[in-house]
Amino acid sequence: MAHLAHDPAIRADRRTTLELGAVLPQTAEVRHGHLYVGGVDMVELAREQGTALYVMDVAQIRQQLRAYREALGAANQVVYAGKAFLNKAMVKLLIAEGSWLDVSSGGELAIALAAGFDPGHIVMHGNNKTEAELTEAIQAGVGLIVADCFEELDRISRITTERGSTQSILLRVKPGVVADTHAFIRTGAEDSKFGFGLSGGEGGSGGAARMAVENALALPGIHLAGLHAHIGSQIFALASFAETIAVLADFMGALRTSSGFTPEILDLGGGLGIAYQAADEPATIRDLGSLLTTHLASCCGELGLPLPRLMVEPGRSVVATAGLTLYTVGVIKKLKGLRCYVAIDGGMTDNIRTALYDARYEATLANRAAAPRDTVVTLAGKHCESGDVVALDASLQSPEIGDIVAVFGTGAYNASMSSNYNAQVRPGVVFVEDGEARLVQRRETYADLTARDVE
Ligand code: LLP
Repeated sequence: MAHLAHDPAIRADRRTTLELGAVLPQTAEVRHGHLYVGGVDMVELAREQGTALYVMDVAQIRQQLRAYREALGAANQVVYAGKAFLNKAMVKLLIAEGSWLDVSSGGELAIALAAGFDPGHIVMHGNNKTEAELTEAIQAGVGLIVADCFEELDRISRITTERGSTQSILLRVKPGVVADTHAFIRTGAEDSKFGFGLSGGEGGSGGAARMAVENALALPGIHLAGLHAHIGSQIFALASFAETIAVLADFMGALRTSSGFTPEILDLGGGLGIAYQAADEPATIRDLGSLLTTHLASCCGELGLPLPRLMVEPGRSVVATAGLTLYTVGVIKKLKGLRCYVAIDGGMTDNIRTALYDARYEATLANRAAAPRDTVVTLAGKHCESGDVVALDASLQSPEIGDIVAVFGTGAYNASMSSNYNAQVRPGVVFVEDGEARLVQRRETYADLTARDVE
C-alpha cells in the first residue's frame, strides 16, 4: 500500500507532549511524568478500565459549544452534528449547554429521545430517510426535517396529511462549492448524492432546487422554513463558507422574485477543521462565526433580503480535540531499514480514519509523558489487515511493551464509526471532568457479540 511506504524524510523531533499545542484537549497536563486529562491520571484510568479506551474531556466540549454560541450570537443557533459522537451522556451534555442536535438516522433520533432531548430542537438529516424514519421523526415532533429529494417531499406531505399535522422543513441545496478537503468528505459540488442542484441537470433549466421550493410551497402538511447547505468536513479555508453564503443569497434573491418565498432559516451545515497534527492551523470558531454572520448580513443587505436565522451544525470541531484513545503496547517489531511497528490493542475497529482517509494523528506515552517524543514509529492495530494502522510515522517516546499510548484528536468519527471486525469488542467511553472519571458507555463484552444471534 502506497501510504505505508517508508518516508526517510520523516525524523523524530524532541518535542514533549505539552508542545503539541492545539492538538491537545484544554485540560491536558503532565504530572510526575503521567498524562492527566480533566484532572485524571490517564495511566491509572487505563489500569482501572482496561484498554482500548475512549476518553473525553468534558470541559473541552463545553468550551467549544460555548464558543459557537458566542460566535453566532443569541439570534442564531448551534446544532451539534450527532454523527461525530453520540451517546446518552453526550445528549445530556448538549441539553445542559443549550445546543440543538442534528441526527442523520432513526438510530441517532432514538438515542436522542432515549436521553430526553427536546424533539423540537432536533434537525433530521439523511439522503434516503426511510418511510419508517420519516414517520418516527414526524411522530416525535422533530423541529426540522432537511428534505434531500423530491420523493421525500411527497413522503413527508403524505405522512403529515394522514396525521393532520404540519412539518417544518429545510431544503438541502448543493451550492456548487468545492471545499478544499478530502474527496470522500466533500459534499457541496453538483456531482453529489446530497440535496437539490441549483443549476441545470435534474429539474430542468431552473435547477432542481427552485422546483423543490415550488413543490414544498404547494404541498399540504409542509411548512418550508428555509434552506440548508453542507459543503464538506475538515475545512481549513473559510473562503469556501463565504462563497456558499454568496451563492445561497443569490438564490434567495431569485426565489423572492420567482415565488415570493423568503427563508426564515439558513442552515450552513458543519465542516470547520481541527488540528490533528502540531503543524495544523485551522481557523477558530470565532473567525468562522464572525465570517458567517457578517457575510450573511452584507449579502442580504445588498439584495434587500430579510436576515434569516443562521444555524450551523458542527460535529468534529466540538468533540474531536476533546477525545483521546488509550491503548497498551503489546508487540514491537523493528524492521531494519524499514520501520518500527508498535502494535496496540485496538486499531481500525476503533479508528477507521487512518485507513479510510489517510488521516494523521499525534500520540504520546501516557506513562512517560514528560520525556521527549524522539522516536518515529508506526502505531499498528491488532486486526488482520496491513492497512490496519492508527498513526503512521508518529513521534513517540521510545516505546516498551506495556506502555500506555494516548492518541489525540479521536473524539470525532472514531467511536461513531467503530466496528466489530475480527469480533473485536468496542471500547468503553469515559468522561473526565474536574478530577472525576465517569464511565458513560461500557466496553462491549463477548456476550454482546452473540446477543443478536438467533438459534
Ligand atoms: N451537517 C451535515 C449535513 C453533515 O453531513 C455533517 C458531516 C456535519 C453537519 C458535521 O460536519 P463536521 O462539523 O463534523 O465537519 N467521517 C468523516 C467525516 C464525515 C462528515 C459527514 N458529514 C471523517 O471522519 O472525517
